[in-house]
Amino acid sequence: MSIHITGFGTALGERMVTNIELETFLDTSDTWIKERTGIHRRHWGGTTEALATQAGKEALFNSNLDPEQIDLIILATTTPDRVMPATSCAVQYNLGLSCGAFDLNGACSGFVYAIVVAHSMLVGGIKKILIIGADTLSRVTDMQDRTTAVLFGDGAGAVVLENIPFGDNDTSTDSKPETFDATNDKMLLGWDAGVDGSALDLLYCNHGGYMQMEGQEVFRKAVRATVSSILTTLKRAKLTSADIALFIPHQANSRIIEAVSSRLGIPEERTVSNIDYTGNTSSASIPLAMAKAASSGRINKGDNILLAGFGAGMTWASAVIKWNVGK
Ligand code: COA
Repeated sequence: MSIHITGFGTALGERMVTNIELETFLDTSDTWIKERTGIHRRHWGGTTEALATQAGKEALFNSNLDPEQIDLIILATTTPDRVMPATSCAVQYNLGLSCGAFDLNGACSGFVYAIVVAHSMLVGGIKKILIIGADTLSRVTDMQDRTTAVLFGDGAGAVVLENIPFGDNDTSTDSKPETFDATNDKMLLGWDAGVDGSALDLLYCNHGGYMQMEGQEVFRKAVRATVSSILTTLKRAKLTSADIALFIPHQANSRIIEAVSSRLGIPEERTVSNIDYTGNTSSASIPLAMAKAASSGRINKGDNILLAGFGAGMTWASAVIKWNVGK
């Protein structure tokens, strides 16, 4: 068996908002935002359900699967549309699926957590999982607060992960678990995930309130936690930074990305950034950046791809995946 990514999908909030537009109602400037964050524009609008459905639909289409072939949806989100039920229930219905579904809240680390969870389920025998990272942080942002309003955007990114038996032309819709085979061609070569709950007050949002953030401290912790997590992951995967073909980090601030990449010795040409047009889309940021890199030909079969996220909690997660794309 071999675990592959067989489809991607993306969605961005319906309205593009430039830094120049922010200047009209906030005490900020295009120059400050670009220099301090790398963000030129972001997209606001829509619900988590709608964006996740759009990205999920595209990923299903690109993987050539019928809805009934999907065995599970995992929706990574920290901005569910309702307290209950999980937003993934609505997405499951919208996509015409008949499988199980659950939300996973790992904040901006959520997509990497979801990859790790999904991979272990695929190794356990499930065949096809739709993972979506979707967030609509503009809905919990105080648009009069310049320290947060300039940073966040809305979006969704989706991937289909399939466990394909060697030689199978993949026409089966049977999702019965198979026996675990230690010779699996695994996609996940190493991973690490963690939380420092004592730092919860640095970034949080209470019910009915707006996001509260201590930016500088989040910045410092983000760099430290991401680097440390990646070093753990690389060690577990028995790899070094030199073995990484492409680094796809969470897109929170281009200076965080640069600090992490430089500490790891990964040059800019092997680091993906799309923060200039997305802003920080939380759980959606890594799948959006991954889809961009894949569609622009920056990833080749067999490449070792490093993913790393950090976010409210404070959570962090990193993973190295072997790029088995397509069937
Ligand atoms: N426009 C203009 N000036 C701004 C501003 C804005 N949007 N936001 C803050 N400032 C001002 C501050 O008030 C401060 O002014 P002062 O020197 O007169 O007091 C000055 O800019 C510097 O503020 P500071 O907070 O030190 O800036 P910074 O370089 O740390 O950048 C962040 C602020 C928020 C961009 C940065 O700390 C950051 O990205 N932190 C991590 C946030 C994050 O990633 N959150 C999500 C985690 S998933």
